[in-house]
Amino acid sequence: MCMKKVITGIKPTGTIHVGNYAGAIKPALQFLESDEYTPLYFIANMHALNTVTDAELLRKQTLEIAATWLALGLNPTQSLFYCQSDIPELFELNWILANLTPKGLMNRAHAYKALVDKNTTMGLHRDDGVNMGLFNYPILMSADILLFDADLVPVGKDQIQHIEIARDLAQTFNQKYGETFASPEGYIEKDVAILPGLDGRKMSKSYNNVIPLFSEAAQLNKLIKQVKTDSSLPHEAKDPNTSPLFTLYQAFAKDDEVLNMREHFRNGIGWGAVKDAVFEVMNRELTIPREQFQNLVSKPKEIEDILQDGATKARMIAKEKLIQIKERVGLLHI
Ligand code: ADP
Ligand code: TRP
Repeated sequence: MCMKKVITGIKPTGTIHVGNYAGAIKPALQFLESDEYTPLYFIANMHALNTVTDAELLRKQTLEIAATWLALGLNPTQSLFYCQSDIPELFELNWILANLTPKGLMNRAHAYKALVDKNTTMGLHRDDGVNMGLFNYPILMSADILLFDADLVPVGKDQIQHIEIARDLAQTFNQKYGETFASPEGYIEKDVAILPGLDGRKMSKSYNNVIPLFSEAAQLNKLIKQVKTDSSLPHEAKDPNTSPLFTLYQAFAKDDEVLNMREHFRNGIGWGAVKDAVFEVMNRELTIPREQFQNLVSKPKEIEDILQDGATKARMIAKEKLIQIKERVGLLHI
C-alpha cells in the first residue's frame, strides 16, 4: 500500500447521474493506477439516512452505488471499497470532533444555511425541517476523511466547504492535542467542475434535471435531445465555454475530440449535430459499464462480500488511528 491516501464517498440517495460521474467518480477512478496514492472509496449510507427513510430503498440504492463503482472499473484489489456504516470507529471520532466544533461553524455550512435561507424566504421558522443529522453533517464528513489521514479528496465543487471544515477541525485538534491528523486537500477535476443538467442549471437530483448514468441508449439519446440550447442558428459561431452540451461532451470525449469540437463550435456547428456527437461519445463510453452494472446488481451477495472485505481492511487502519486519537485526548487509561 502507498503512503498517501485519496478518499471519497457518495451517498446512496438516488439514481447516480452523469454529474456524479463527472464530478466525483471519474476523477476518483484515475487514482486506481497511481503509485503514489491508496484509494479509499466508500458508500456514505449513514449520511443518506438524512433523506432516505425507507429501509428497502436505502438497501437498494446502496447496492446500486456499489454496482456503479464496480461497473465503472473500481478494482477492489487496488483500493479499499467499503460501506460507511461498517466502520463504527467513525462514530467515536465523530463525537470527539463534535466537541471541538464551534456551533457557529456549522451555522455557516452550506446545506444547513441553504435550508435556513429557504425557510426565511418562505416565512417559516428558520430551523423548520432541520434535524441534527443535517446540522452535524460536516462533522461526520470530517471524521470520514480524518480517520484515514486522507491527503486528497476528489469531489464536486459544492463539497469544497466541507473539506475546509475537515481541515479546520484537523488543525484545531492538532493544536490542542499535538500533531495527529493529515491536512486534506480537495481535488476537483479541471474543466468539469459543475456539469449542467437538462435545463442548464447544475445537474442534481434535487432539480429533477438529471441524465441517469446508466440510461438505456434510446433514453440517453432522448434526454440529450432535451438539453437546453440558445437560439443561435446552425451556421453561427458558438461559444463552447458557455455551452452545457460542450461541457457534457468534454466529460466523455477524448482530448483530441474535445479540441476538434471546440473548432466545430467556432466554425458554427448546428445544435442537432452537437447533440448527436454528445450521444455518440457518451454511449460509447457507457455501453460496457451499463451491461456490467445490470450484471452486478443481479448478484447482491458478491457485492456484499466485496464491501465486507473492504470494511475489514479499512477497519484495521481505523482501529489503529482511533487508539492514537483516544490516547491523545485522554480516553484511554494506561
Ligand atoms: P445531487 O446534487 O444530485 O444531490 P450529490 O450532492 O449526491 O448530488 O453529489 C454526489 C457527488 O457528485 C458530490 O461529490 C458532488 O460534488 C458531485 N456532483 C453532483 N452533481 C454534480 C454536477 N452537476 N457536476 C459535478 N459534480 C457533481
Ligand atoms: N458529502 C458528500 C456528498 O454530498 C459525500 C461524502 C460524505 C464525502 N463523506 C465524504 C465525500 C467524505 C468525500 C469525503 O457528495
